[in-house]
Amino acid sequence: MNKPFVWDALVRLTHWIVAALFLANYFILPKGSEPHQWAGYIVIVAVIIRLIWGVITHSPARLSRFKPSPRKAIEHLKEVKATHQDHHLGHNPAGAIMIWLMWALLLATGITGWGTEWSVFHHAHWLKETHETLASITMTAVAIHVAALIVMSKVTHRSYIRSMWIQKKSTQ
Ligand code: HEM
Ligand code: HEM
Repeated sequence: MNKPFVWDALVRLTHWIVAALFLANYFILPKGSEPHQWAGYIVIVAVIIRLIWGVITHSPARLSRFKPSPRKAIEHLKEVKATHQDHHLGHNPAGAIMIWLMWALLLATGITGWGTEWSVFHHAHWLKETHETLASITMTAVAIHVAALIVMSKVTHRSYIRSMWIQKKSTQ
């Protein structure tokens, strides 16, 4: 059996920057303030860096290694239910769908927030509303993401959280 899988440093670093700043913007920083805006810009940049890395690297973090496929995701969930195992190196097909969705939602939330600062959209109420709605939908996806990790860790006894934690990388 392989040693536990650990994501590379760039994936782990961008993950925790995005997670911390998203949660800070959603729960703590005053809405629309300078720190809120800067946290949002950093989220956008961190996601873009991660996506560029996903084109360059040949590790399991490569984007083409986890293309979203609802059919594969359903097959995978059935397999996990039957075997209580997940042997995927990197993202499993169900996780893959959620991750693409979170990236899209994070970018859409950040960009609509940024849009409120552009003179063409100044004081555009609909854009603020869109930004808020997207932030809430992203928060729902994040809650499902964390809940799914807890359930999957219990069912398969695989430590997904350790694979994203700060530690020495033990395998590709
Ligand atoms: C991941 C990034 C972001 C998240 C999670 C986020 C989250 C939110 C949330 C939840 C609200 C709604 C507040 C309410 O209920 O009234 C809000 C409002 C706002 N956000 Fe963001 N935001 C992000 C990025 C940005 C960026 C990049 C900017 C601008 C550069 C921005 C500018 C604003 C503005 C102007 C408001 C409206 C404040 C008001 O009602 O006057 N946000 N944001
Ligand atoms: C707070 C508790 C959180 C934990 C414990 C956690 C843990 C993880 C783990 C273990 C993975 C890898 C899953 C796998 O092996 O397939 C992952 C991936 C991911 N998570 Fe989280 N996460 C958390 C919060 C968040 C938040 C708040 C966001 C977004 C705002 C987020 C966005 C993502 C994204 C985009 C990925 C894909 C990473 C990549 O491939 O670069 N996570 N998370």
